Amino acid sequence: MGGKYATETLEATKGGIARASAILREGGLVAVPTETVYGLAARADKAEAVARIYEAKGRPSFNPLIVHVADLDQARTLADFSDEAEALAKAHWPGPLTLVLPRRADAQLAEAVSAGLPTIALRMPNHPVTQALLRETGLPLAAPSANRSGFISPTCADHVLASLDGRIDAVLDGGSCDSGVESTIVAMREGGRIEELRPGPLAIGEKDTGGDRIEAPGQLASHYAPGKPVRLDVTKPEPDEFMIGFSQLAGDCSLSASGNLEEAASRLYACLHEGARSEKPRIAVAPIPARGIGKAINDRLRRAATPAD
Ligand code: TXA
Ligand code: MG
Repeated sequence: MGGKYATETLEATKGGIARASAILREGGLVAVPTETVYGLAARADKAEAVARIYEAKGRPSFNPLIVHVADLDQARTLADFSDEAEALAKAHWPGPLTLVLPRRADAQLAEAVSAGLPTIALRMPNHPVTQALLRETGLPLAAPSANRSGFISPTCADHVLASLDGRIDAVLDGGSCDSGVESTIVAMREGGRIEELRPGPLAIGEKDTGGDRIEAPGQLASHYAPGKPVRLDVTKPEPDEFMIGFSQLAGDCSLSASGNLEEAASRLYACLHEGARSEKPRIAVAPIPARGIGKAINDRLRRAATPAD
């Protein structure tokens, strides 16, 4: 693709992880596998390293990043954990849950990580390769999804390269992501109240979206966009539409022929990438039931279907 970096593809071996760790310690950028989507990692304690993430993604600087940690002890050095937060972390980490917590005054984190907010988003990913990497670097790693800002999230190394080849130092290839949609984000509020900021693989607590404040800008109306019009809830596609099927509604590709929502989540971004690459000028998507992880799938599809302005 051409860019200022010769992007390396690293195997998920001891040697590959050691190389990724060395790049990160020097302040470089490595795309890493997680159980949700690939993240674009940089050390979270160095301003220059964090600035590179924003530059490579073309991400607006007001959109804060999730910091990935090796364990709860490391997380406690970065944020204040209430009893409720502690209980959630113990129940769901490692896993697809991001906690937005008060940032500690003495946290070793670059200011840009939380984009000026008094809070910090933390998550312990459940992927053996990235867990090994986090232990080897000994550093908290800031990592947004490894795609250009506003585009479809990556669920394999090829998706990362399609978007960021030449713009990052390396991609650590850990195969396809299991879950396929980004983590559930919750904020801990006064009195132990839990507010869901982004639906994801885990359903947590009572939902209270607190009006239309944009606190997790992943909540912006247009996001995950494949670069062509997307029509939702389609049972009969037009001839010029790339049809993404589900259950008995077949198409050019299917999220899950058996109607399994977990499978549909894991295939969502791969199907959107395929639709984006196809020569058909528009994309149509079959109706997806809004139960369980189907809620998160519909959330991402609505944003993919909203034109950017
Ligand atoms: O599954 C995931 O969460 C993936 C993998 C790589 O871990 N990461 C991911 O990152 O989806 P990203 O940057 O694409 O989405 C992070 C979301 C954004 O919507 C951001 O606005 C929100 O988290 N966020 C980060 N810090 C926040 C904070 N302090 N308060 C509220 N929202 C925050
Ligand atoms: Mg993202």
